[in-house]
Amino acid sequence: MKASDLELTGQVAIVTGGGGGIGRAIALCLADLGADVTIVDVIPERCDEVAAQVEARGRQALPFPANVMDSDKVREAVTATKDRFGRIDILINNAGGVTRRPFLQLQEKNWRRVIDLNLISMLTATHEAVPHMIEGGRGGAIVNVSSIEGSRAAPGYSVYSGCKAAINNITRTLALEFAEHQIRINTIAPDYTVTPGTKGVFTGPVDPSLWPPFTELELESQRRRIPAGRAGLEEECGTVAAFLCSKLASYVTGTLIPVDGGSWASSGWMRDGPDDDWILPPSTKA
Ligand SMILES: NC(=O)c1ccc[n+]([C@@H]2O[C@H](COP(=O)([O-])OP(=O)(O)OC[C@H]3O[C@@H](n4cnc5c(N)ncnc54)[C@H](O)[C@@H]3O)[C@@H](O)[C@H]2O)c1
Repeated sequence: MKASDLELTGQVAIVTGGGGGIGRAIALCLADLGADVTIVDVIPERCDEVAAQVEARGRQALPFPANVMDSDKVREAVTATKDRFGRIDILINNAGGVTRRPFLQLQEKNWRRVIDLNLISMLTATHEAVPHMIEGGRGGAIVNVSSIEGSRAAPGYSVYSGCKAAINNITRTLALEFAEHQIRINTIAPDYTVTPGTKGVFTGPVDPSLWPPFTELELESQRRRIPAGRAGLEEECGTVAAFLCSKLASYVTGTLIPVDGGSWASSGWMRDGPDDDWILPPSTKA
């Protein structure tokens, strides 16, 4: 192994939802490793801010303001990337999200919106980008940002968790379909991560250092529920996604990596017993 196997110099990446949160962190980690990056985000200032940070790392950036729920715009983003950089090596299907609401309170337009944002955007971007990767003849890497909710029940998030479960399994199938072209496709599955979405910062540029700190109650809840004892940081998804795009992961495809501080492994166990030991609620005994 050589340290240079981590490098992405000369490669070109597209990151959806790249203007903030996990997408922003992935875009910056890819740029740190040498990639040029197209940032697709519905908020133009966020595209510009992340593009400036990519350029500050000595890489080229293409800010592409667009709503990924508009499939034509997703296709345009892919075409614009090919036109600007001449190649596409990496696709990060990150844009997604949901507002919590019980299933019976949803209307058809609500679940169509969730499916468009979380699933259709990923299908469209992948369908559009992969032929360019095949044409380039150098292979490629795709990382889909799923969620821990794609692997467990999630009351109030029924359609969202269904979309993420679909992403998990579509990833496995596409790994087989794309393997002959040396295109690898993998999924990362975060649990609670500090991002603009989870902090309620829905407009303007993003600077995580300006966000209000967690309350004592929030910190205590994280400590009890998440084995790592804290919420995830967006960079902690960025580094894993960047690794998956690198040569170090050249034999990794069709897999799912939880980036969740151990939440998936804990499967309901909490630090809530006497002497702070692990229990399965509602029991108070270890
Ligand atoms: N943050 C978490 O706790 C968490 C946990 C599990 C999974 N995820 C998944 O990670 C991904 C990123 O989550 P996040 O919390 O970083 O997101 P976020 O809500 O903080 O948004 C990230 C960026 O996406 C952009 N965006 C939102 N809707 C868009 C659209 N329709 N078109 C283009 N850009 C859009 C936003 O402007 C923002 O800059 C999502 O797929 C989400 O489901 C997040």
